[in-house]
Amino acid sequence: MTEVLVLRTGGVVEVRLDRAAKKNALTGAMYRALTEALTAAEADDDVRVVLLGATGETFCAGNDIADFLEPRPDFAESPPQKFIAALVQFSKPLVAAVHGAAVGIGTTMLLHCDLVYASATARFRTPFVSLGLVPEAASSLLLPARVGHAVAAEMLLLGAWIDAGRAERLGLVNAVLPSAAELATFARERAAEIAANPPGAVRMTKALLRDRDALRARVGEEGRRFAECLVSPEAREAFTAFLERRPPDFTKAAR
Ligand code: COA
Repeated sequence: MTEVLVLRTGGVVEVRLDRAAKKNALTGAMYRALTEALTAAEADDDVRVVLLGATGETFCAGNDIADFLEPRPDFAESPPQKFIAALVQFSKPLVAAVHGAAVGIGTTMLLHCDLVYASATARFRTPFVSLGLVPEAASSLLLPARVGHAVAAEMLLLGAWIDAGRAERLGLVNAVLPSAAELATFARERAAEIAANPPGAVRMTKALLRDRDALRARVGEEGRRFAECLVSPEAREAFTAFLERRPPDFTKAAR
């Protein structure tokens, strides 16, 4: 069963996470489907923009925590890392429509989007440290650049929630719409607007806005540390505690 929906309207491809029962937590199969959708959109000259969204009440609860416990011998080639590489590489505008919680990669993927719209229920969190992990998707570079060191530290070291209003003030999102329905309409209108613009100038502008070499280098650096952390006793304890619905106990999980 596919848990990523891909819909096409004119020059706009909508990619929608569709695993609402698990709060749209991403499995390996979902990462693969997302990567395929971006690769296909990149290759098709008639596609001008991709709009990311989700079904249900949550945008994305991040990586599926049960999947974190699976062995990943070749981490750089794992489905999440390939998705992150495809995000960095993607040359056309990415627009996101976010309602409800956006956690972990649910937030870090938004840092690769060019326009992010949210509903009033949206909230953002990057709790890597709480899980014994380090930031991914170049968020250790993109987040402080976007919101400043103080707020980035609040998000990356404390795992603080950022609500929709604060996210808008910080520049994490472009605009907040009152309801999910208004969000969907507004984001589709902006995507259609970009799709009607001259594609060559749009792509060149996007390329000028992003330093892809710096992003790739940071993704690689973070990835080496993330792979090391994934198998650490403290991360194993954090993942198991989440799945057993109990608070983690890090007193016995020394490195
Ligand atoms: N991986 C695997 N399963 C997840 C998940 C994740 N990242 N996030 C949520 N789920 C599952 C829960 O285990 C639960 O499954 P169950 O119904 O079979 O017990 C179901 O989704 C609903 O989650 P729940 O926590 O009850 O929903 P909520 O509305 O109270 O809270 C969130 C929603 C997103 C705030 C909360 O689920 C959460 O914080 N998830 C973990 C996020 C996280 O740490 N992600 C990794 C970041 S690197």
